[in-house]
Amino acid sequence: MNPVKIKSPATIANLVCGFDVLGLALNEPQDLMEVTLSEKPGIRIQHNDIYNLPTVPEQNVAGVALLELMQELDNAVGFDIIIEKHIKPGSGLGSSAASAAGVVVAANHLLGNIFSKEDLVRFAMAGEKLASGVKHADNISPCIYGGITLIRSIFPLDIIALPAPPMYVSVVHPQIEVKTSDAREILRKEVLLKDAIKQWGNIAGLVAGFMQNDYGLISRSLEDVIIEPVRSMLIPGFDEVKKRSMDAGALGGGIAGSGPSIFMLCKEENAAKKIEAIMKDIYNNMALAYHTYVTTINNKGITISQEL
Ligand code: HSE
Repeated sequence: MNPVKIKSPATIANLVCGFDVLGLALNEPQDLMEVTLSEKPGIRIQHNDIYNLPTVPEQNVAGVALLELMQELDNAVGFDIIIEKHIKPGSGLGSSAASAAGVVVAANHLLGNIFSKEDLVRFAMAGEKLASGVKHADNISPCIYGGITLIRSIFPLDIIALPAPPMYVSVVHPQIEVKTSDAREILRKEVLLKDAIKQWGNIAGLVAGFMQNDYGLISRSLEDVIIEPVRSMLIPGFDEVKKRSMDAGALGGGIAGSGPSIFMLCKEENAAKKIEAIMKDIYNNMALAYHTYVTTINNKGITISQEL
């Protein structure tokens, strides 16, 4: 049978104030994946990259997502998968979501689109459970839907695709490891009512800002009084990146997902490039290796790039 080739984008979960409920897809970086439907049952995974990820389906985020999908078909079909990762695992840029979502979107295409986008998010969340210990959809949803998504509820799934004005995104990925499971473990399990009020005001403000193309409101709402104060301690240089980016004209920003990447949203490309230079300067001075990206919001999500 013919393989399908897809591109699966990096995503930024949380968008500062929206822990586990907001996420955005990026145009860069993107994983590549080739998936072939097979009459031979089971899943065979091959990696075409440097990351040494597991190839046993039950231990692989793409594998477990695809197993969820195959269960609905009584495991009557099989798949061969080749994954070429460009989103570094553990970056905070939705690497596991790109694999898990990418493979189920590709499989669905090969099967004649028998599942809805919501079904695909449900299958792909098995990958997030394997990667981080909990099911969350704030990377998977924007990966599949594109743009910015709000996950009002996970059980049952209620996903809302949000419009947003054009924005540039500057990202720095300092090359340290922050495991999502650890970054979740350190969070306080209870929040103060005064913090909760501030947080839900900001989430509502951010969503309204996106919908009304109001950059000022977006900027004012990019504030996190619950998660960032705890997690930012794991990321060297975080406060300096944030302060100097804001001084250089960022609308706002913070930790990408559970980190260690940091992102800043900008209205203008010039400001985004200036912020990238600031990010480089900070990590050069710390002699800490890093990657940077200046990119835009990816409104398409996963794309079928080539059918052979
Ligand atoms: N919302 C999740 C978290 C995203 O912040 O833990 C993890 O990538």
